[in-house]
Amino acid sequence: MNTKTLSTHPDDIHIAADLLRSGEIVAFPTETVYGLGAVVWDESAVQKIFKAKERPADNPLIVHCADLGQIHSVVREFPPLMYHVAQNFMPGALTMLFERHDNIPNIVRAGLPTVAVRIPAHPVAQALIRAVGAPLVAPSANRSGKPSPTKAEHIFDDLDGRISAVIDGGQCSIGIESTVIFMLETPYRILRPGSISKAELEAYTGQKFIEYLSNNDAEHGAMPSPGMKYRHYAPMASVRVYTTLQELHHVFHRYKEERILLLSVNTLPSEIVIPQNIMVENLTEYSLYEQLRRADDNGIWLIAVYFPPEERENNAGLWNRISKAAESI
Ligand code: TXA
Ligand code: MG
Repeated sequence: MNTKTLSTHPDDIHIAADLLRSGEIVAFPTETVYGLGAVVWDESAVQKIFKAKERPADNPLIVHCADLGQIHSVVREFPPLMYHVAQNFMPGALTMLFERHDNIPNIVRAGLPTVAVRIPAHPVAQALIRAVGAPLVAPSANRSGKPSPTKAEHIFDDLDGRISAVIDGGQCSIGIESTVIFMLETPYRILRPGSISKAELEAYTGQKFIEYLSNNDAEHGAMPSPGMKYRHYAPMASVRVYTTLQELHHVFHRYKEERILLLSVNTLPSEIVIPQNIMVENLTEYSLYEQLRRADDNGIWLIAVYFPPEERENNAGLWNRISKAAESI
């Protein structure tokens, strides 16, 4: 199959919508990362997504709607507190779990009684869902286990020849996936941290949320979404986390020949002398996935991440993705 590149021009969005309506799968930009879309009711199209991504069948998909009204067509009920949250954070980088409507195919929710729903804010995603006239399932448009795509070229690297088209909308403005929350029972939970933070959710609702950050938290009762059990967001290079400047000095002394990318969540003190084999860049949500992909292209042997523990709470999404990338399972 020849994977077409489409622009964000309305004529091209209509071409993409026709492809989706005829059972094809098409990648499109959202403000978080690119999604790989199929019409939610079209089981054979949804099957194509799992095949193209080589995604495990036990990892459910997010249903993307254009507005709150469309959410009603895919859920059994919209509890008042969740409606209140949706009014504030949707459209945006938030995904909520609902009791599923009977019409949601099993393959979409991996057999679970719930369905995950999000309203993307990106104008192209909005226009596409409206042009199709139906909600779209859309996992991130990467090969399973690779970092999510934040640019159209990342999708070609992973899925060229496996999908019908890519709508090229440039770089995604957020850069990591949406925050996934569960509010069907207390305690309310953040199953996947993202740019919408626990502090924002708690301030807005006046309720407590338990957050899953890493496997460590799972041991303490926080619950990850099914996708969190896979080694995600992983480049080929090994990713190791360092929490003190002393540890970084150790790395500088120990590895003198290897090519190392140092990603730092904080500005490093100016007195630190960086050896020549080490390239330093800032660690941000916006740039992380591009950096992980480029590290592989540039033959980086080690990605050293400087992330002091006191930065974790304020950078929960970033910390979660780094700890997943660093896991060796
Ligand atoms: O920002 C995003 O959320 C992007 C863009 C394209 O919208 N999408 C995305 O989809 O990241 P995906 O499939 O790569 O990740 C979906 C996550 C997975 O961790 C999955 O396990 C979880 O959401 N999820 C989906 N349905 C669920 C459900 N019913 N219960 C628990 N977790 C669910
Ligand atoms: Mg994904």
